[in-house]
Amino acid sequence: MSFKVENLTWKIGRKTILRDVSFETEPGKMLGLLGPNGSGKTSLLRLLAGLRQPDAGRILLDGRDLASLRRRSIARRIAFVEQHAATNANLQVVDVVKLGRFPHRSMFSGWSREDDRIVEDALHRSGMEQKRGERWQSLSGGEKQRAHIARALAQAPQELILDEPTNHLDVQHQIGLLRLVSDLPMTSVIAVHDLNHAAMFCDQLIVMQQGSIIAQGAPESVLKEELLRTVFGVEARVEPSAHHGRPHIHFLR
Ligand SMILES: Nc1ncnc2c1ncn2[C@@H]1O[C@H](COP(=O)(O)OP(=O)(O)OP(=O)(O)O)[C@@H](O)[C@H]1O
Ligand SMILES: [Mg+2]
Repeated sequence: MSFKVENLTWKIGRKTILRDVSFETEPGKMLGLLGPNGSGKTSLLRLLAGLRQPDAGRILLDGRDLASLRRRSIARRIAFVEQHAATNANLQVVDVVKLGRFPHRSMFSGWSREDDRIVEDALHRSGMEQKRGERWQSLSGGEKQRAHIARALAQAPQELILDEPTNHLDVQHQIGLLRLVSDLPMTSVIAVHDLNHAAMFCDQLIVMQQGSIIAQGAPESVLKEELLRTVFGVEARVEPSAHHGRPHIHFLR
């Protein structure tokens, strides 16, 4: 099960941001969250990460209410890379990645070889090995993004939540990142704007509109021409790709 979200509603003041949202994640699978700007993707991810509390409904993590878990136990399990993740301190890349180990350490345990191994693995997977000694401020936007991913991987989470992780990346690193996430054994929930990338890599998709889920299921059942027109306001033709069998969207001009 991993996440089970039941009738989630979330408000800011009197404004309802998320309305009666329900879905389940499949363990080890990649769930893509789609929707126009302002449809509620970031809001939903923040609730999933335990950073906000629902006004109604609940989020279960392996059957336990997320609201009943302590911050530290959540941090041992769930890693979240925010849409506009900031790191102000002038640290080296490797030190930022090491921060990912923090929830796993106790007052009594020192830094271990296992911690080192996990940090190295995270640097390697995110392609940031070469940049390990660089100062944070000297990184490009895309490199910062990848360093944040490395920190999240160092957290060794069972659930990985990513809010538009590809938005600063060049096309090679976009594809590389999505492939990496889809190959990871953990459950991932990832907000993305590129519908073709979502179709290629995600196992399941959720489409949001004005705070509600308007469609969910396998990419081929969700990405229909009618939905692209009504939700995203674009004319397109969808057909199975000859290369990967997933739906491929041809946008019409
Ligand atoms: N602090 C806030 N106060 C008032 N409204 C807010 C606040 N944060 C978000 N909202 C509103 O909640 C709605 C959903 O925002 P959210 O950031 O979740 O959308 P999103 O789908 O992530 O959009 P994007 O694709 O632009 O990242 C928007 O209408 C936004 O204006
Ligand atoms: Mg957002």
